[in-house]
Amino acid sequence: MTRKFFVGGNWKMNGDKKSLGELIQTMNGASVDPNVEVVCGAPSIYLDFVRSKLDAKFGVAAQNCYKVPKGAFTGEISPAMIKDCGINWVILGHSERRHVFGESDELRCQKTAHALESGLGVIACIGEKLDEREGGITEKVVFAQTKVIADNVKDWSKVVLAYEPVWAIGTGKTASPQQAQEVHEKLREWLKTNVSEAVANSVRIIYGGSVTGGTCKELASQKDVDGFLVGGASLKPEFVDIINAKA
Ligand code: PGA
Repeated sequence: MTRKFFVGGNWKMNGDKKSLGELIQTMNGASVDPNVEVVCGAPSIYLDFVRSKLDAKFGVAAQNCYKVPKGAFTGEISPAMIKDCGINWVILGHSERRHVFGESDELRCQKTAHALESGLGVIACIGEKLDEREGGITEKVVFAQTKVIADNVKDWSKVVLAYEPVWAIGTGKTASPQQAQEVHEKLREWLKTNVSEAVANSVRIIYGGSVTGGTCKELASQKDVDGFLVGGASLKPEFVDIINAKA
């Protein structure tokens, strides 16, 4: 089973029309590996702008959404609105949502179920904190996080699982290729036992946490690393090198 390599950019709360417009121009003009699915996670206020400028061969993702289609939820956006802007993906459960904004597992369940029902693809993030890794409970933590997602997924073809160790996000400390491969392989085994062999073989498990043009090639060569979710480096021309990591 070949899994199409998937590279997501997570722009977080960065950029403006000028700088994102320049980045988009670079991406549109770059020569990129056609065997890679690329999705850029834009700030919600720029989703429409980004979708209208970015070449159609690149996907766009929202970085969050709420759990119902509409209503009195000041400040939130719904999957229906995201789709209305021609956008097909959403990043859910990112560690910054969990740890900075205190999003619970329960809310993440509801958001995941509703986004999938609404027809969005979901980049579902998981990952252990430093004390959890040092305490030897990485597997326990990521399995429990994956279960929360799995309980809410009917169609796995719409889900990309992003393993993002919290200690590696924005710290410049990329997980080693061996550390990433080890967790990805265990996650695939977990999916085989708890979901199905077909899902385990087909779902893309991508790595995130300080991926750069310098670290991407060796990470990409690992058997169970099916792509990346890239924060800081996705705002730079270097993002193109990461997209082409396997070329
Ligand atoms: P980083 O962010 O590449 O800047 O570490 C990754 C992420 O948060 O998805």
